[in-house]
Amino acid sequence: MNRVLSPCELGLVGAIPRPKRTDWRIGIIGFGGIAVSHVSAYREAGWQVVAVADPDPQAQARARALLPGVRLYAAYQDLVADLAVEVIALLTQPTMRYPAVEAAFQNRKPVLTEKPLAVSAEEAERLAALSERVGIPLAVSQNYRWNCANFLAREVIRKGLIGTPFYAGIEIQGGQDVELADHPFYSKCEGFLTLQWNNHLADLLRCWLGRDPIRVLACTRRMKGQNFRSDNLLLSVADYGEGVTGHIIHSELLRSALRCARCRVDGDGGSVVFDLYGMQVTLQCERTGSEPCDIKPEGGVWASSFSGPMGELLRAIEEGREPETGASRNLPTIRHVVAEEHSARAGGVWKSV
Ligand SMILES: NC(=O)c1ccc[n+]([C@@H]2O[C@H](COP(=O)([O-])OP(=O)(O)OC[C@H]3O[C@@H](n4cnc5c(N)ncnc54)[C@H](O)[C@@H]3O)[C@@H](O)[C@H]2O)c1
Repeated sequence: MNRVLSPCELGLVGAIPRPKRTDWRIGIIGFGGIAVSHVSAYREAGWQVVAVADPDPQAQARARALLPGVRLYAAYQDLVADLAVEVIALLTQPTMRYPAVEAAFQNRKPVLTEKPLAVSAEEAERLAALSERVGIPLAVSQNYRWNCANFLAREVIRKGLIGTPFYAGIEIQGGQDVELADHPFYSKCEGFLTLQWNNHLADLLRCWLGRDPIRVLACTRRMKGQNFRSDNLLLSVADYGEGVTGHIIHSELLRSALRCARCRVDGDGGSVVFDLYGMQVTLQCERTGSEPCDIKPEGGVWASSFSGPMGELLRAIEEGREPETGASRNLPTIRHVVAEEHSARAGGVWKSV
């Protein structure tokens, strides 16, 4: 058993930072599957969801049941004009981003959009340019940055405890080829592991390494008889320059329960290893000596990661600065996964990001 330390004992931030105001009023556009996670995270943080827009009657019924008394609209144009709404959470599929963001900005309302920011680098650039031009924040819900272990790992790195990172690796072995075999979108889309999934993982590598990739090399494979249209095994290497490397192994082909979601970041002064969805990180560095230690949050509690990106946007508004996952800052994540998809289609050759 390793010695256990709290983040505070190492001088690390040990909880998801919150905005000063607790009574922010949020309007949600698109009340599908992921909206439920946003609503419970916002509620836990004390923020109010005052309005929902979705043309689908079933989605409206879901919103009414979850949020009694909420103002319901079929058209997002009515929601963004509602004076009760201060900030927008855009939770539609990425095929519906630009018109809703533009309408929100016309009403001077900042937007948090679900990931991915867009399905092409060009549209992502257009959205980032629009936000810059009007001077209203557009942030991306890269909530994996705020999962407990992922957040603590970044704190360890930011504090310089492992020195300068030279390698970050993620290995996921999962079973979505079976679990989501009938999913109307994921089982049939192109680029499932690159464009859809790796939006999270590419973003995490950037977040931990503190650098943007300059080129990527990816190879995807399939299993005979697999269910998904997309290849469901990915091997990917990213070059961040100056001897800094990122690496992703990702399979969703498992026909067993022997899953994993392992991560590590190695620096010239130590290493941190952890589970992508875990509640602790294991650290060995000069500070810990030869015995590694486990870092866990105080009381073993952690807020929903979905409160992370929205909380960061609200803090950025309060402090008059750009959010950490603002659209311009998110562009290298989109470029990474697009280059990865191109590399895989070309049979695994280096592609510039
Ligand atoms: N962060 C995560 O871990 C995570 C997990 C799952 C999905 N997502 C992302 O969340 C987004 C939404 O995914 P989902 O699974 O909730 O999708 P979904 O298809 O279940 O829901 C989308 C909703 O948007 C509504 N919609 C469509 N057009 C609209 C319009 N013009 N105005 C208002 N509403 C409209 C639809 O009626 C539907 O209810 C995607 O970008 C996806 O990648 C993120």
